[in-house]
Amino acid sequence: MQGKELYAALCSACHGKALEGYAADHAPSLITPTFLESVNDEFLTRSITTGRPGTSMAAYGKKLGGPLDDAAIARLVAFVRARGNVPQKQLAGLTKAGDPKAGATIYDATCRVCHGDLKSRGEAVHLANPMFLAQASDPFLRHAIVNGRAGTKMEAFAKKLDEQQLADVIAYIRTFVNPAAPAISQLPAPTGKEPLLLFPKGKEPDWTAREDRFVPVDIVKKAYDEKRKFIIIDARPPSEWMRAHITGAVSIPYHDLKRLDEIAQDTWVIAYCACPHHLSGDVVDALKARGHTKAAILDEGINDWHRKGYPMTVAEGVEKPAGEPPAPAGQIR
Ligand code: HEC
Ligand code: HEC
Repeated sequence: MQGKELYAALCSACHGKALEGYAADHAPSLITPTFLESVNDEFLTRSITTGRPGTSMAAYGKKLGGPLDDAAIARLVAFVRARGNVPQKQLAGLTKAGDPKAGATIYDATCRVCHGDLKSRGEAVHLANPMFLAQASDPFLRHAIVNGRAGTKMEAFAKKLDEQQLADVIAYIRTFVNPAAPAISQLPAPTGKEPLLLFPKGKEPDWTAREDRFVPVDIVKKAYDEKRKFIIIDARPPSEWMRAHITGAVSIPYHDLKRLDEIAQDTWVIAYCACPHHLSGDVVDALKARGHTKAAILDEGINDWHRKGYPMTVAEGVEKPAGEPPAPAGQIR
C-alpha cells in the first residue's frame, strides 16, 4: 500500500482524515507547521516504529510486532511530510542552564493541567513518556513551547516565558525520565492460532449491550468469573497485545481482520482497545457487517480492566495504568 492508503487504514481513526489530530484519544495533529518544521524524519519514523508505550499510540514497526516494515513506514513518513508541506527549520537551542526546581513550579502552574505528570497522561501528548523524551531534543521542546501549535490547544508561550524560564521548564521535563525504570519487555508474538473461545463449555452470557454496542467492564468481568462462553478480541496492533492483554483475549487487530471469519454467528464477542472505543468499534462494525448481532465493545477499555486488577497477562515491567490526573475546575477536558 502507498503512504496515503496506509494512513487511511491505520492512522486516520485517531489522527483524523486530514492529519489534523483529535479524531480520537486526543491524538495530536501531525501537520501543524510548527510541528513539522521542528522534526526530522528520524523523529517521525521512530514515533511510528516504537510508538509511545502506555498511550494509545502503538508500536507499528514489524520488529516490535506491529504491521509495518521499514519501507512501509518510510512511505508513511513521506506522506505526512508531503501533506504538511513545510520545510524543516534550523531550531534555536537553549541559551541558559535550567533549574529543574524552578521549572517544576512553572510546569505545575501552567502545563500539568494538559500534559499530566510523571505517571499519567493528561489530554495532551505525554511529555514524560520515555520514548518521547529519547526522541525530543532540547531545541525541539523549546520550539514547541515558544511557538505553540496553531489550531490546537497548545498556545505559543513566547511572550509568557523568558529564556531562563524555558530552560527551567525543559530541565524539569528532563527529570521525568526515570533511569531506574526497567526496560519494557514483550510477550511472545501471537501465533494466530490462539483458541478463540474463553470457556467453550460455559453458558452464554446474559448481558444486554447498551445501545446494542457497549458492555461495561464490571459486567464482562462477572461473565468471565462465571466462566461464560464468549470471545474477547484485542483490537490493537499485536505489539500492544505483546505488552499486555486481558488473559484469554485473542489478537485480531483492526488492520487485519481475517480471523473474524472463524467466529460463529451465535457466539458473543467483546472487543477492546485502549481508546476505549475506536479500534474496538472498527472490529465490532466489521462483525456486524458479516451478519453478527452478538458483538459489543468493552465500554471503558483495557486500561480500566487493568487498573481494577482484573485478570491480565503482561510482559515484565509493564505497570498498571495510572488514573487520569484530575482536571482543576473550569478546565477544558
Ligand atoms: C488509537 C489511536 C492512534 C492510532 C491508530 C495512531 N496513533 Fe499516532 N498517536 C496517538 C496518540 C494518542 C499520540 C500521542 C501519544 C502521547 O501521549 O505521547 C500519538 C503520537 C503520534 C506521533 C508523535 C506526534 C508528536 O507530536 O509527538 C506520530 C508521528 C504518530 N502518532 C503517527 C501515527 C501514524 C503514522 C499512525 C498510523 C500508522 C498512528 N500514529 C496511529 C494515537 C494514535
Ligand atoms: C491547554 C492545554 C495545554 C497547555 C496548558 C500546555 N500544552 Fe503543550 N501541548 C498541548 C497540546 C494539545 C499539544 C499537541 C498539539 C498538537 O496537536 O500538535 C501540545 C504539545 C506540546 C509539546 C510538543 C509535544 C509533541 O510531541 O509534539 C510540548 C513540548 C509541550 N506541549 C510543552 C508544554 C509546556 C512546557 C507547557 C507549559 C508551559 C505546555 N505545553 C502547556 C496542550 C497544552
